Amino acid sequence: MKAIQSVEQEGQLVTITYADGQLNLQVVTPQIVRVQHGPWQPGHSYAIAGDKVQAAPYQVDRGSQEVVVTTAALKVVADAEGFVDLFDAAGTPLVQDFRGPRHALARDLSKAQADLAAAEGHDLAQVEAANANLVVKVLHEHEHLYGLGDKAGFMDKRGYEYDMWNTDNPVPQLENRTRLYKTVPFMIGLNDGHAYGLFFDSTERSHFDLGKESSDYFYYTSAIGTVDYYLIAGAGIPGVLEAYTYLTGRTPLPQKWTLGYQQSRWSYGTEAQVNYIADKMREYRLPCDVIHLDIDYMDGYRVFTVDHNHFPHFASQLSDLAKKGIKIVTIIDPGVKEDPGYHVYDEGVAQGLFAKNTDGSVYVNAVWPGAAVYPDFGRAKVRDWWANNVKFLTDNGVAGVWNDMNEPASFKGEIPDDIVFSDGDQPSTHATMHNVYGHNMSQATYDGLREQTGKRPFVISRAVYAGSQKYATVWTGDNHSLWVHLQWSVPLLCNLGLSGFAFAGTDIGGFGSDTTPELLTRWIEAAIFSPLLRNHSAIGTRAQEPWRFGEKTLGTYRKFLELRYHLIDYLYDLFEAGTRTGLPVMRPLAVHYPQDERAATINDEFLVGADLLAAPVLTPNTAERLVYLPAGEWCDFWTGKAYAGGRSYVIAAPLDALPLFARVGAILPWRPLTQYVDVATETTLGFKCFGNTGTYSHYQDDGESFAYETGAYNRYAVTVQNGAAKVTLTHQGYAKPYQTITVAVADGAVQTLTYDAATGSYRA
Ligand code: GLC
Repeated sequence: MKAIQSVEQEGQLVTITYADGQLNLQVVTPQIVRVQHGPWQPGHSYAIAGDKVQAAPYQVDRGSQEVVVTTAALKVVADAEGFVDLFDAAGTPLVQDFRGPRHALARDLSKAQADLAAAEGHDLAQVEAANANLVVKVLHEHEHLYGLGDKAGFMDKRGYEYDMWNTDNPVPQLENRTRLYKTVPFMIGLNDGHAYGLFFDSTERSHFDLGKESSDYFYYTSAIGTVDYYLIAGAGIPGVLEAYTYLTGRTPLPQKWTLGYQQSRWSYGTEAQVNYIADKMREYRLPCDVIHLDIDYMDGYRVFTVDHNHFPHFASQLSDLAKKGIKIVTIIDPGVKEDPGYHVYDEGVAQGLFAKNTDGSVYVNAVWPGAAVYPDFGRAKVRDWWANNVKFLTDNGVAGVWNDMNEPASFKGEIPDDIVFSDGDQPSTHATMHNVYGHNMSQATYDGLREQTGKRPFVISRAVYAGSQKYATVWTGDNHSLWVHLQWSVPLLCNLGLSGFAFAGTDIGGFGSDTTPELLTRWIEAAIFSPLLRNHSAIGTRAQEPWRFGEKTLGTYRKFLELRYHLIDYLYDLFEAGTRTGLPVMRPLAVHYPQDERAATINDEFLVGADLLAAPVLTPNTAERLVYLPAGEWCDFWTGKAYAGGRSYVIAAPLDALPLFARVGAILPWRPLTQYVDVATETTLGFKCFGNTGTYSHYQDDGESFAYETGAYNRYAVTVQNGAAKVTLTHQGYAKPYQTITVAVADGAVQTLTYDAATGSYRA
């Protein structure tokens, strides 16, 4: 840009005028600075709800060659060329603009060769179009890059390229797939233990090259728009995540039963089949809270209908199942069957609620019901209409909604870019609104469930945009029963967590292809701490319920479901903490051990909160594995055996075993085993102390309503000192404190504390 001409300051905005351009630095919070080229345009965002700009104090220093903006947490330096560098408060460089020339990736390919290869159907990398909106940053030798939502591959995204264009493609995912279902243009860099975040809040098609083209730099570019992104500095990855989720929202506290086990298949398509699944779960003593109904429960795949031939007593069946602790979640796709006489279609046409061709007629493509039309979810009116339709489900007793195919999927070729979808009340294009289609649909569903039930909505979505975590939990779409997909489930869920999506899960056992008893067993072990715990499989694949593979598989599966149910309060506590911190439940080791280079790229271990480390077996025919324990004192969760951290151990892991370690000094809630979550009956809670001394903060509420927002919750401080346990209620707003609390300490002794209503305290 060459030569700074003037610097102006207005509120949180610093505008630097150069000889040939303008650079805006908006101090959003002490941790977040928005960088924008050209005349300042605040615009509007789907990711960010409401005005997040704080009146944070900051200082501007103008030198002859640079402008420095300093907050309590960071320093942004804009130089005379318009390059922008981010430092932390101590002056440590976090991320800098790359100043050298880019080098094209060597492909050694002529146009004629490319045409020839394409003729056989080879999918050749597209030559990237020159783009004004290009951000190129220095990549340091030992830097690690995380986040970006649901990208394929391993933990560290360095060295690969990715596209943001929500895509439904059931072909097995491998490293060469640059795009999947989700668009989360947020990444975290970790260099020499220092973390920063970059958030590119654009719904347009965009591209990240994370050091594939060159190991000296990484870049972002989008199809349309100007340079516009957020720089985020915070104390380590937790600080960056806290700031990012402040901006885009945090995963809200879910209903507690949603943390229970969920059984699904495409499809449990009759009343008898659903009852059979429910009965088997109970008969085999497999704890279970949810059964999912895939598309076949509908009448001809018409959304917001039920096939009464196959479900003749739908509402009463759901109420009977609820008495047994089984909740029903139904799938809802966005594609509305083009079918005059079908009320949802008729209403949408009459009120102009569907996406349109450029000539104003309703746009038609095809999904499961055949010819289908697409609700125009960018408009509030359409979302309200959809939210009202959710009443049909809740009136029947449906407990949650699973939103699928909302990239949106289209069986008759890609939806053309110019199809008219709205951006608020303005006409826009499919190209601009595509990546927020699932986001807006999730919001509509969330609003509908909240309005109809008053409870915390349980919405599962396949397609999302940054910030959708406010409305929906996610699953990772159509994986396959392949060992590589089991291996990737760990980095995939960890990176989703680092992208703001604390509530996520994979299809346990694998969706496509036939599973094997061994794969299913290892999958339930690896997934047992997935926030969303659901076994789901595709039509025509081998039946995948836990009892289909004989006694051994069933027994191991049960053992792990029981572990999950014992630990549900730990997960719930992590969710509650996450609403304040933005930290996910499942965490890569780098979150808590940023200086540990070994931890930075681990793909087959993860932390659950800060206190548990799981090291599942992710390969066949394996009876032991190497487990790396980061610094500190650890103990084997099952045997109590002590291990010093900072090194690796060979740990025995026969087919029925999950290597699991607890941090010494950790205290974990350990609830009595139940076959489903029933908060009303929770009168006692246990805690396990891993060691002789520790502290823990436990949260309790009604597990379903929003009353906690106005103080209706209890908080307990649990302390163990030299083997002696103490429990104090530090906040009491929920009327049903536990009557008894037990605390087991390392030597096996169990102490029982009883609630004394007169004093509101616990006594031995
Ligand atoms: C999609 C979903 C899958 C579902 C199927 C049928 O493939 O990803 O989970 O079972 O559609 O609805």
